[in-house]
Amino acid sequence: MAGASIAVASDHAGFDLKELLKRDLQQAGYDVLDLGTNSTASVDYPDFGKAMADAIASGQVARGVLVCGTGIGISIAANRNPKVRAALVHDETSARLSREHNDANVVAFGQRLIGTETARAALKVFLNTEFAGGRHAGRVAKLSKD
Ligand code: RB5
Repeated sequence: MAGASIAVASDHAGFDLKELLKRDLQQAGYDVLDLGTNSTASVDYPDFGKAMADAIASGQVARGVLVCGTGIGISIAANRNPKVRAALVHDETSARLSREHNDANVVAFGQRLIGTETARAALKVFLNTEFAGGRHAGRVAKLSKD
């Protein structure tokens, strides 16, 4: 997917990892939309989860990367939008399965929980793994129903 548009967003507790992953994405040739935050000054993660959800739901980007302290709050916020399938990922295996089984369109990391190199490797896997379809397709379709 290199060359495609991808959004990144974090709160203050995910800012450093968000910046690092943004740089990796830019170096890999992605067109990166940075939705903030822009410093380590305290902010509220729901605002950034919603900004990501809006960017995905509007079609502005097809994929997103979220970071907060744990990855939990910001993924909960993004997943309130039925067009978002944000997966909280801890390693390369969860990154791969979030794509193969869940067709996740957003990956979330917890900066306070995941090692930097693990996050970088997991993001690569997330972006380079296709949805497996088949028995998973109907299940994923149910996620978007009311
Ligand atoms: C911020 O202190 C922290 O609560 C936030 O980054 C996140 O971990 C919430 O789920």
